[in-house]
Amino acid sequence: MNWYKLAQTTDTLDYFAELDIFPDIEKTNSLIQEKINARILGEIGRGDNGIAYDMSNGDVLKITTNSQEYKIALYLMQNPNKYIAEYKQAWQEGDLYFIVIEKLKDMVVNHPMIVSYFEDLVKIAKQKSCFNPSCFLEILENNSYVNSHPYTPIVKNYLDHLTDISSLKLFDIINPANIGISKDDGLKFFDIN
Ligand SMILES: Nc1ncnc2c1ncn2[C@@H]1O[C@H](COP(=O)(O)OP(=O)(O)OP(=O)(O)O)[C@@H](O)[C@H]1O
Ligand SMILES: [Mg+2]
Repeated sequence: MNWYKLAQTTDTLDYFAELDIFPDIEKTNSLIQEKINARILGEIGRGDNGIAYDMSNGDVLKITTNSQEYKIALYLMQNPNKYIAEYKQAWQEGDLYFIVIEKLKDMVVNHPMIVSYFEDLVKIAKQKSCFNPSCFLEILENNSYVNSHPYTPIVKNYLDHLTDISSLKLFDIINPANIGISKDDGLKFFDIN
């Protein structure tokens, strides 16, 4: 885990580690019953702070200990963007945050050509110690290798949108593991924190 993410999640890591046997699907289903008219079908994936589930209504439910992911979800529900997965519902339950998101039909990780564009971008950004939207935007403007790429206008639009969340220090904004492909074949970012 990157140092910044580690620092961001230190408070919650132990708690999440204890969740090895949690969330119990049945208990979680009764917990979410009044919020969503849908049940958990099964787990899609889990990371350092959370678990993503497939829901019976076709959406994805993310249960996370990351309060920043929750804050961003609240922002994106009010301020949607066509290149960000649709955030539909978000609420807090004790130390956990529940986020309902549009299900993306495919992941960029399954498409090596798209992955290589984003990996190149991340590599250039790392060399410049760039982690925030504004300096990513500078790279996209000024680097001749990326600025002519067909995906660049999409990424610029997405980053411009994030620039408006000035009160949060964003960490995970460009990560090929967190970019999907929507039903209409557009690129959509998710798991932004
Ligand atoms: N909206 C979605 N549509 C389709 N698949 C999804 C969606 N959200 C998550 N997934 C799948 O679940 C996996 C894990 O979800 P996500 O990226 O949100 O969390 P994570 O990276 O595992 O955890 P962390 O919150 O700790 O970073 C993703 O890599 C992806 O394969
Ligand atoms: Mg992820």
